[in-house]
Amino acid sequence: MNIPICSPSITTMIRMDHTHVLAAFHRYHAGTPWWRKRAIVGLACTALEIHAQLEEEIFYPALGIALPGDETLLKARPEHDRMRADIAKLRAMGPHDAAFDARFMQLMREVIHHVADEETVLLPTAERALGSQLGELGARMTKRRMQLVAQNRPAAIAANTAGTFPLATLAAMSLGALAVAHCLRPSAARRARRRA
Ligand SMILES: [Fe+2]
Ligand SMILES: [Fe+2]
Repeated sequence: MNIPICSPSITTMIRMDHTHVLAAFHRYHAGTPWWRKRAIVGLACTALEIHAQLEEEIFYPALGIALPGDETLLKARPEHDRMRADIAKLRAMGPHDAAFDARFMQLMREVIHHVADEETVLLPTAERALGSQLGELGARMTKRRMQLVAQNRPAAIAANTAGTFPLATLAAMSLGALAVAHCLRPSAARRARRRA
């Protein structure tokens, strides 16, 4: 099995996912334009689905072996299932629907509560119980995430990311353009020297 060597620990990756989804939530207001609401909800729902699947396939089983019968861990999967049911209802609506805001706020409330349990109970417990396995579990999560993103319409994820975080996307594109320009510069200079 080809596992990437450099990867954050699994608990760091889970915290980063939570931060990303909560940042998307904070972009959503009652007065947000409909097209941005659609992007925010699309991004948040896909990110939550991928995150929940990663936790269920990799993190929860590892923690379950270290801490069988843990109460917070036992209720985590049913909470994911409720979240998936909310996501299905949201996807059946559009941002012009009168109940769209309330349905998304309900999802936000449930996710924030779930994230609080993970960040204050499960992650610190995992860091104590799993210790040296955290890096390898993080590498497995990175590999599986790449597969899941590839299966989840990456172009739509990119479009919704740009709709949700337009300034950050612009900054990332500018940095990418700078990096490309930086990479191209030596070869352009070599060509200029050859012409001279
Ligand atoms: Fe979770
Ligand atoms: Fe989580």
